[in-house]
Amino acid sequence: MKEFATLIIDGKEMKLPVITGTEGEKAIDIRSLRQETGFITYDPGFANTGSCKSKITFMNGEKGVLRYRGIPIEQLAEKSSFVETSYLLINGHLPTQEELTRNSIMLNDQSMVHEDMQIFFQNFPRLSHPMGILSAMVNALRSFYPELITTEEEFQKVFIRMLSKVRTMAAMSYKISRGHKVIYPRADYTYCANFLNMMFDSPVNPYQIDYEIVKALNTFWILHADHEQNCSTSAVKTVGSSRANIYASVSAGIAALWGPLHGGANQAVIEMLTDIHKKGGGIKEVVEKAKNKRSSFRLMGFGHRVYKTYDPRAKIMKKICDKVLPKLKIDDPLLDIAKQLEEVALNDQYFIDKYLYPNVDFYSGILLRAMGIPTNMFPVMFAIGRLPGWIAQWKEHMDDKEQKIVRPRQIYMGKNKISYTPISKRDSSSADTESDD
Ligand code: SDX
Repeated sequence: MKEFATLIIDGKEMKLPVITGTEGEKAIDIRSLRQETGFITYDPGFANTGSCKSKITFMNGEKGVLRYRGIPIEQLAEKSSFVETSYLLINGHLPTQEELTRNSIMLNDQSMVHEDMQIFFQNFPRLSHPMGILSAMVNALRSFYPELITTEEEFQKVFIRMLSKVRTMAAMSYKISRGHKVIYPRADYTYCANFLNMMFDSPVNPYQIDYEIVKALNTFWILHADHEQNCSTSAVKTVGSSRANIYASVSAGIAALWGPLHGGANQAVIEMLTDIHKKGGGIKEVVEKAKNKRSSFRLMGFGHRVYKTYDPRAKIMKKICDKVLPKLKIDDPLLDIAKQLEEVALNDQYFIDKYLYPNVDFYSGILLRAMGIPTNMFPVMFAIGRLPGWIAQWKEHMDDKEQKIVRPRQIYMGKNKISYTPISKRDSSSADTESDD
């Protein structure tokens, strides 16, 4: 039975259809609101606004639930691989052995990067941030692959191309930034093992693949693979909605992810923990500073727009740190500091009242450090993991007949109509001040 919400404006009643999702979430369909009432809604950051209907990822922020295509993140983290989870997100079902094998062969075939791209990498200033390089180079892929996506087969090829080449580009960027020899992908290595080898192998110091680290990297990227309509995914879909190409759309997503409030938080967490370590303590002071409204400082790796309880990904990430670091014989003081910081914050009324818990970025940097990943590449690691989610969401948006170019409205609060003042009649006093409301 159709459900409606009733809106009363100036005594006039308006019935707005209610949409109910498969997990019981409800939305008021306001598509006819402005036309029928002249009113729009106001929702900075879109915290209360649904931008689409989606079948890809389900989150319940109150219960800490995350599922990709219906499968709980805990099961995928334990049993799946990043390549298999990427297939699931893109195609809506887990692959058969034949489909997975075909996928792996295509990933291998697409793992090289055009040799001309090395010249691009070599001409970035040595201290360039890897996220700026990655965003630029993903955009540049369009110059090498200008064909438009007109069939499902062409889409699958572009997906595989991006998933494979972005990983290679990230490792290449790291090697070139250090003036080291670029290591090429190998046909006998899996997706994650290849990345690690391209990052750390060298002619004089051959890299030994540690399958504990390969498993941890698979899980790390599975945990980052999608997260419904987050900031960077919304950026990808916004750019794609103008029918810009997929490379430009993903490049925009990388740019959005770079921010410290989003994917850049994993780097900011490690910098915060390192600072505490250098000072020999000050955990309570850091928590107090994060509560101080006069300070712009925030406890990085804490809080979330959707999760109002412990981020299920952070729980898994913490367990992996506890398991993998001892196996690698790594005793990272930052892990203990992170746990102490968590303990203090979770028992602080400010954090309790505002439902601020560790998010995916709080422990992820500890794991990346253990793998030997440099801190400024942490957001790049997030970007590689999020690629399948960005591309799956982009495709769903392109195929959604209800979607159109993203173009929100606004409430104008500026000057009412004034006339142009000839420059001869202008002086500094005439620059009228804004009338405060
Ligand atoms: C990611 O959206 C996604 O799904 C993102 C992500 C994904 O997988 O794509 O999960 C990845 O981006 C995780 C978040 C990484 N960012 C950080 O760890 C940066 C620190 N966290 C915050 O800045 C903040 O919590 C956000 C950005 C994550 C969420 O911000 P919101 O939802 O806009 O919440 P808000 O800024 O309005 O905060 C609500 C209140 C405010 O206090 P009041 O104005 O109500 O008094 O909580 C406070 C905030 O000041 N607050 C914090 C805090 N986070 C929120 N106070 C101190 N430290 C923090 N970390």
